[in-house]
Amino acid sequence: MQDTGILDSRKLPDVTFLELWNAIILPPETKDRLLSQAVLNFTLRPNVSRADLPLHGVILLVGEPGTGKTSLARGLAAKTAQVISSEVGFWYIEVDPHSLTSSALGKSQRAVTELLGNKIPEYAAKQPVIVLLDEVEALATDRSKLSLEANPIDVHRATDAVLAQLDQLAANHPNLLFIATSNFPKAIDSAFVSRADLILSVDLPNQEACHAILTNTIEAVGRSYPKVKNLLTDPLFKEVVNMCEGLDGRRIRKLVAAACTYRKEVAFDPNKLSIEDLSRAIEHEQQQLQATRGESKSR
Ligand SMILES: Nc1ncnc2c1ncn2[C@@H]1O[C@H](COP(=O)(O)OP(=O)(O)OP(=O)(O)O)[C@@H](O)[C@H]1O
Ligand SMILES: [Mg+2]
Repeated sequence: MQDTGILDSRKLPDVTFLELWNAIILPPETKDRLLSQAVLNFTLRPNVSRADLPLHGVILLVGEPGTGKTSLARGLAAKTAQVISSEVGFWYIEVDPHSLTSSALGKSQRAVTELLGNKIPEYAAKQPVIVLLDEVEALATDRSKLSLEANPIDVHRATDAVLAQLDQLAANHPNLLFIATSNFPKAIDSAFVSRADLILSVDLPNQEACHAILTNTIEAVGRSYPKVKNLLTDPLFKEVVNMCEGLDGRRIRKLVAAACTYRKEVAFDPNKLSIEDLSRAIEHEQQQLQATRGESKSR
Protein backbone atom coordinates (compact mmCIF):
# COMPACT_ATOMS: atom_id res chain seq x y z
CA MET A 1 0.00 0.00 0.00
CA GLN A 2 1.43 3.41 -1.00
CA ASP A 3 1.03 6.57 1.06
CA THR A 4 -1.57 9.08 -0.10
CA GLY A 5 -0.28 11.03 -3.04
CA ILE A 6 2.41 8.47 -3.93
CA LEU A 7 1.71 6.48 -7.08
CA ASP A 8 4.98 4.60 -7.27
CA SER A 9 8.09 4.28 -5.15
CA ARG A 10 11.17 2.19 -6.00
CA LYS A 11 14.91 1.85 -5.83
CA LEU A 12 16.96 3.26 -8.72
CA PRO A 13 18.43 2.52 -11.19
CA ASP A 14 15.48 0.42 -12.30
CA VAL A 15 15.96 -1.74 -15.41
CA THR A 16 12.55 -0.97 -16.96
CA PHE A 17 13.16 2.76 -16.46
CA LEU A 18 16.59 2.50 -18.09
CA GLU A 19 14.87 0.93 -21.08
CA LEU A 20 12.61 3.97 -21.27
CA TRP A 21 15.62 6.28 -21.40
CA ASN A 22 16.87 4.38 -24.44
CA ALA A 23 13.42 4.07 -26.04
CA ILE A 24 12.70 7.79 -26.18
CA ILE A 25 14.27 9.14 -29.34
CA LEU A 26 15.24 12.80 -29.17
CA PRO A 27 18.17 14.81 -30.53
CA PRO A 28 21.21 13.54 -28.57
CA GLU A 29 22.08 17.06 -27.40
CA THR A 30 18.63 17.38 -25.78
CA LYS A 31 19.08 14.17 -23.82
CA ASP A 32 22.66 15.11 -22.88
CA ARG A 33 21.55 18.49 -21.58
CA LEU A 34 18.81 16.91 -19.51
CA LEU A 35 21.14 14.35 -18.00
CA SER A 36 23.79 16.98 -17.28
CA GLN A 37 21.26 19.15 -15.46
CA ALA A 38 20.14 16.18 -13.36
CA VAL A 39 23.71 15.18 -12.55
CA LEU A 40 24.62 18.76 -11.67
CA ASN A 41 21.83 18.77 -9.15
CA PHE A 42 23.62 16.10 -7.13
CA THR A 43 27.19 17.31 -7.74
CA LEU A 44 27.29 21.12 -7.91
CA ARG A 45 24.18 22.00 -5.92
CA PRO A 46 25.19 20.58 -2.51
CA ASN A 47 28.58 22.33 -2.75
CA VAL A 48 27.61 25.94 -3.47
CA SER A 49 25.67 28.20 -1.14
CA ARG A 50 22.04 28.83 -2.10
CA ALA A 51 22.61 32.54 -1.60
CA ASP A 52 24.99 32.45 -4.56
CA LEU A 53 23.32 29.79 -6.66
CA PRO A 54 19.59 29.59 -5.95
CA LEU A 55 18.88 26.19 -7.48
CA HIS A 56 15.61 24.50 -6.53
CA GLY A 57 16.26 21.03 -7.88
CA VAL A 58 13.40 21.22 -10.38
CA ILE A 59 13.43 20.21 -14.05
CA LEU A 60 10.29 20.96 -16.05
CA LEU A 61 9.46 19.04 -19.24
CA VAL A 62 6.73 20.56 -21.39
CA GLY A 63 5.27 19.44 -24.69
CA GLU A 64 2.30 18.10 -26.57
CA PRO A 65 0.59 14.87 -25.47
CA GLY A 66 2.40 11.68 -26.46
CA THR A 67 5.82 13.25 -26.98
CA GLY A 68 7.41 10.98 -24.37
CA LYS A 69 7.67 13.32 -21.36
CA THR A 70 6.61 10.84 -18.68
CA SER A 71 8.75 8.06 -20.13
CA LEU A 72 11.69 10.44 -20.45
CA ALA A 73 11.29 11.62 -16.86
CA ARG A 74 11.27 8.05 -15.53
CA GLY A 75 14.20 7.17 -17.77
CA LEU A 76 16.13 10.25 -16.66
CA ALA A 77 15.63 9.30 -13.02
CA ALA A 78 17.14 5.87 -13.64
CA LYS A 79 19.93 7.12 -15.89
CA THR A 80 20.96 9.77 -13.34
CA ALA A 81 21.14 7.14 -10.60
CA GLN A 82 23.17 4.91 -12.90
CA VAL A 83 25.77 7.51 -13.88
CA ILE A 84 26.20 8.79 -10.32
CA SER A 85 27.02 5.51 -8.72
CA SER A 86 26.30 6.36 -5.12
CA GLU A 87 26.94 3.94 -2.27
CA VAL A 88 23.53 4.41 -0.70
CA GLY A 89 21.56 4.19 -3.94
CA PHE A 90 18.87 6.52 -5.23
CA TRP A 91 15.18 6.34 -4.45
CA TYR A 92 12.31 7.18 -6.86
CA ILE A 93 8.93 8.56 -5.90
CA GLU A 94 6.12 9.32 -8.33
CA VAL A 95 3.53 11.77 -7.04
CA ASP A 96 -0.12 11.36 -7.94
CA PRO A 97 -1.30 14.97 -8.18
CA HIS A 98 -4.94 14.00 -8.64
CA SER A 99 -5.16 12.12 -5.34
CA LEU A 100 -3.69 15.14 -3.56
CA THR A 101 -6.11 17.66 -4.98
CA SER A 102 -9.45 16.88 -3.43
CA SER A 103 -12.68 18.82 -3.54
CA ALA A 104 -12.94 18.99 0.25
CA LEU A 105 -11.96 22.45 1.41
CA GLY A 106 -8.50 22.59 2.97
CA LYS A 107 -7.80 18.92 2.25
CA SER A 108 -5.50 19.49 -0.72
CA GLN A 109 -3.32 21.89 1.22
CA ARG A 110 -3.00 19.40 4.09
CA ALA A 111 -2.24 16.51 1.72
CA VAL A 112 0.44 18.53 -0.12
CA THR A 113 2.04 19.65 3.16
CA GLU A 114 2.02 16.09 4.50
CA LEU A 115 3.65 14.69 1.36
CA LEU A 116 6.18 17.43 0.57
CA GLY A 117 6.75 18.56 4.16
CA ASN A 118 6.92 15.17 5.92
CA LYS A 119 7.00 12.10 3.70
CA ILE A 120 9.50 13.22 1.06
CA PRO A 121 11.96 14.69 3.63
CA GLU A 122 11.84 11.31 5.44
CA TYR A 123 13.03 9.59 2.26
CA ALA A 124 15.53 12.35 1.45
CA ALA A 125 17.11 12.05 4.92
CA LYS A 126 18.16 8.50 4.03
CA GLN A 127 19.31 8.70 0.40
CA PRO A 128 19.28 10.84 -2.75
CA VAL A 129 15.72 11.03 -4.07
CA ILE A 130 14.23 11.79 -7.50
CA VAL A 131 10.55 12.74 -7.51
CA LEU A 132 8.32 12.74 -10.59
CA LEU A 133 5.58 15.36 -10.53
CA ASP A 134 3.64 14.18 -13.57
CA GLU A 135 1.02 16.58 -14.95
CA VAL A 136 2.21 19.22 -12.53
CA GLU A 137 -0.43 21.76 -13.64
CA ALA A 138 -2.87 19.81 -11.44
CA LEU A 139 -0.69 20.51 -8.41
CA ALA A 140 0.83 23.93 -9.08
CA THR A 141 -2.22 25.42 -10.79
CA ASP A 142 -1.90 28.96 -12.10
CA ARG A 143 -3.51 31.03 -9.34
CA SER A 144 -4.12 33.95 -11.68
CA LYS A 145 -6.46 31.90 -13.87
CA LEU A 146 -8.69 30.24 -11.30
CA SER A 147 -12.35 30.22 -12.13
CA LEU A 148 -15.02 30.07 -9.45
CA GLU A 149 -16.08 26.57 -10.49
CA ALA A 150 -13.44 24.37 -8.95
CA ASN A 151 -13.12 25.44 -5.35
CA PRO A 152 -10.59 28.20 -6.10
CA ILE A 153 -9.64 28.85 -2.48
CA ASP A 154 -8.55 25.26 -2.03
CA VAL A 155 -6.58 25.18 -5.29
CA HIS A 156 -4.99 28.52 -4.37
CA ARG A 157 -3.91 27.13 -1.00
CA ALA A 158 -2.62 23.90 -2.52
CA THR A 159 -0.43 25.86 -4.98
CA ASP A 160 0.79 28.07 -2.13
CA ALA A 161 1.65 24.94 -0.14
CA VAL A 162 3.56 23.42 -3.08
CA LEU A 163 5.65 26.58 -3.49
CA ALA A 164 6.33 26.96 0.23
CA GLN A 165 7.32 23.30 0.57
CA LEU A 166 9.55 23.46 -2.53
CA ASP A 167 11.44 26.36 -0.98
CA GLN A 168 11.87 24.44 2.27
CA LEU A 169 13.02 21.31 0.45
CA ALA A 170 15.43 23.28 -1.72
CA ALA A 171 16.99 24.81 1.40
CA ASN A 172 17.25 21.60 3.40
CA HIS A 173 17.66 18.76 0.90
CA PRO A 174 20.16 19.31 -1.93
CA ASN A 175 20.05 15.57 -2.63
CA LEU A 176 16.51 15.88 -3.97
CA LEU A 177 15.51 16.37 -7.61
CA PHE A 178 11.99 17.02 -8.89
CA ILE A 179 11.19 16.23 -12.52
CA ALA A 180 7.87 17.81 -13.48
CA THR A 181 5.94 17.28 -16.72
CA SER A 182 3.06 19.13 -18.34
CA ASN A 183 0.98 19.35 -21.52
CA PHE A 184 -0.40 22.68 -20.39
CA PRO A 185 2.51 24.94 -19.45
CA LYS A 186 0.17 27.94 -19.47
CA ALA A 187 -1.88 26.35 -16.69
CA ILE A 188 1.14 26.07 -14.36
CA ASP A 189 1.61 28.78 -11.79
CA SER A 190 4.34 31.16 -12.91
CA ALA A 191 6.03 31.01 -9.50
CA PHE A 192 6.49 27.27 -9.98
CA VAL A 193 7.88 27.77 -13.50
CA SER A 194 10.24 30.37 -12.12
CA ARG A 195 11.60 27.81 -9.63
CA ALA A 196 12.54 25.36 -12.40
CA ASP A 197 16.32 25.16 -12.94
CA LEU A 198 15.76 23.90 -16.50
CA ILE A 199 12.64 24.11 -18.65
CA LEU A 200 12.86 21.79 -21.60
CA SER A 201 10.39 21.66 -24.42
CA VAL A 202 9.93 18.11 -25.75
CA ASP A 203 9.02 18.49 -29.40
CA LEU A 204 7.19 16.26 -31.86
CA PRO A 205 9.59 13.79 -33.51
CA ASN A 206 11.50 15.09 -36.54
CA GLN A 207 12.01 12.97 -39.68
CA GLU A 208 14.98 11.15 -38.25
CA ALA A 209 13.15 10.39 -35.02
CA CYS A 210 10.01 9.25 -36.94
CA HIS A 211 12.24 6.83 -38.83
CA ALA A 212 13.85 5.54 -35.64
CA ILE A 213 10.57 5.15 -33.73
CA LEU A 214 8.83 3.32 -36.57
CA THR A 215 11.86 1.10 -37.19
CA ASN A 216 12.10 0.29 -33.51
CA THR A 217 8.40 -0.66 -33.28
CA ILE A 218 8.59 -2.79 -36.45
CA GLU A 219 11.67 -4.57 -35.10
CA ALA A 220 9.88 -5.24 -31.80
CA VAL A 221 6.84 -6.75 -33.57
CA GLY A 222 9.25 -8.53 -35.93
CA ARG A 223 10.75 -10.46 -33.03
CA SER A 224 7.48 -12.42 -32.81
CA TYR A 225 6.37 -12.04 -36.46
CA PRO A 226 9.61 -12.13 -38.50
CA LYS A 227 8.10 -11.23 -41.89
CA VAL A 228 7.01 -7.84 -40.52
CA LYS A 229 10.70 -6.88 -40.64
CA ASN A 230 10.52 -7.00 -44.46
CA LEU A 231 8.72 -3.65 -44.26
CA LEU A 232 12.03 -2.04 -43.32
CA THR A 233 13.59 -2.90 -46.68
CA ASP A 234 10.49 -2.10 -48.75
CA PRO A 235 11.24 0.58 -51.39
CA LEU A 236 8.24 2.56 -50.08
CA PHE A 237 9.38 2.54 -46.45
CA LYS A 238 11.09 5.93 -46.67
CA GLU A 239 7.97 7.47 -48.16
CA VAL A 240 5.89 5.98 -45.36
CA VAL A 241 8.25 7.49 -42.79
CA ASN A 242 7.87 10.91 -44.42
CA MET A 243 4.11 10.59 -44.06
CA CYS A 244 4.50 10.41 -40.25
CA GLU A 245 5.51 14.05 -39.91
CA GLY A 246 3.33 15.86 -37.38
CA LEU A 247 2.33 12.70 -35.49
CA ASP A 248 3.49 12.30 -31.90
CA GLY A 249 5.67 9.40 -30.73
CA ARG A 250 2.77 7.59 -29.08
CA ARG A 251 0.76 7.63 -32.36
CA ILE A 252 3.76 6.46 -34.36
CA ARG A 253 4.34 3.55 -31.98
CA LYS A 254 0.69 2.54 -32.33
CA LEU A 255 0.75 2.65 -36.15
CA VAL A 256 1.97 -0.91 -36.67
CA ALA A 257 -0.90 -2.30 -34.58
CA ALA A 258 -3.39 0.03 -36.27
CA ALA A 259 -2.16 -1.13 -39.69
CA CYS A 260 -3.06 -4.73 -38.71
CA THR A 261 -6.74 -3.82 -38.41
CA TYR A 262 -7.56 -3.22 -42.09
CA ARG A 263 -7.56 -6.86 -43.14
CA LYS A 264 -8.82 -9.64 -40.90
CA GLU A 265 -6.14 -12.09 -42.07
CA VAL A 266 -3.46 -9.64 -40.92
CA ALA A 267 -5.04 -9.41 -37.48
CA PHE A 268 -4.84 -13.21 -37.27
CA ASP A 269 -1.31 -13.32 -38.70
CA PRO A 270 0.62 -10.00 -38.55
CA ASN A 271 3.29 -11.61 -40.77
CA LYS A 272 0.94 -10.64 -43.62
CA LEU A 273 1.21 -6.92 -42.88
CA SER A 274 2.00 -4.90 -46.02
CA ILE A 275 3.48 -1.46 -46.60
CA GLU A 276 0.10 -0.43 -48.06
CA ASP A 277 -1.60 -1.31 -44.74
CA LEU A 278 0.94 0.84 -42.94
CA SER A 279 0.48 3.72 -45.34
CA ARG A 280 -3.31 3.48 -44.92
CA ALA A 281 -2.97 3.62 -41.13
CA ILE A 282 -0.80 6.75 -41.34
CA GLU A 283 -3.25 8.45 -43.72
CA HIS A 284 -6.03 7.72 -41.27
CA GLU A 285 -4.04 9.16 -38.35
CA GLN A 286 -3.19 12.28 -40.34
CA GLN A 287 -6.86 12.80 -41.22
CA GLN A 288 -7.85 12.37 -37.57
CA LEU A 289 -5.20 14.88 -36.57
CA GLN A 290 -6.44 17.44 -39.10
CA ALA A 291 -10.03 16.91 -37.95
CA THR A 292 -9.20 17.44 -34.27
CA ARG A 293 -7.10 20.50 -35.12
CA GLY A 294 -10.01 21.93 -37.13
CA GLU A 295 -12.35 21.26 -34.23
CA SER A 296 -10.14 22.98 -31.67
CA LYS A 297 -9.77 26.01 -33.98
CA SER A 298 -13.53 26.39 -34.45
CA ARG A 299 -14.12 26.24 -30.67
N1 LIG B 1 10.34 10.69 -29.08
C1 LIG B 1 9.88 9.46 -28.84
N2 LIG B 1 10.65 8.39 -29.12
C2 LIG B 1 10.22 7.15 -28.91
N3 LIG B 1 9.01 6.84 -28.38
C3 LIG B 1 8.21 7.85 -28.06
C4 LIG B 1 8.59 9.21 -28.29
N4 LIG B 1 7.59 10.01 -27.89
C5 LIG B 1 6.63 9.19 -27.41
N5 LIG B 1 6.99 7.90 -27.52
C6 LIG B 1 6.21 6.74 -27.06
O1 LIG B 1 4.90 7.17 -26.83
C7 LIG B 1 4.36 6.59 -25.65
C8 LIG B 1 3.82 7.66 -24.76
O2 LIG B 1 4.86 8.34 -24.09
P1 LIG B 1 4.61 9.18 -22.76
O3 LIG B 1 3.45 8.64 -22.00
O4 LIG B 1 5.91 9.26 -22.07
O5 LIG B 1 4.24 10.60 -23.38
P2 LIG B 1 3.78 11.93 -22.61
O6 LIG B 1 4.46 13.04 -23.31
O7 LIG B 1 3.99 11.77 -21.16
O8 LIG B 1 2.25 11.96 -22.94
P3 LIG B 1 1.10 12.77 -22.14
O9 LIG B 1 1.41 14.21 -22.29
O10 LIG B 1 -0.15 12.38 -22.86
O11 LIG B 1 1.14 12.31 -20.72
C9 LIG B 1 5.45 5.75 -25.04
O12 LIG B 1 5.22 4.41 -25.39
C10 LIG B 1 6.71 6.25 -25.71
O13 LIG B 1 7.63 5.21 -25.84
MG1 LIG C 1 2.68 11.92 -19.53
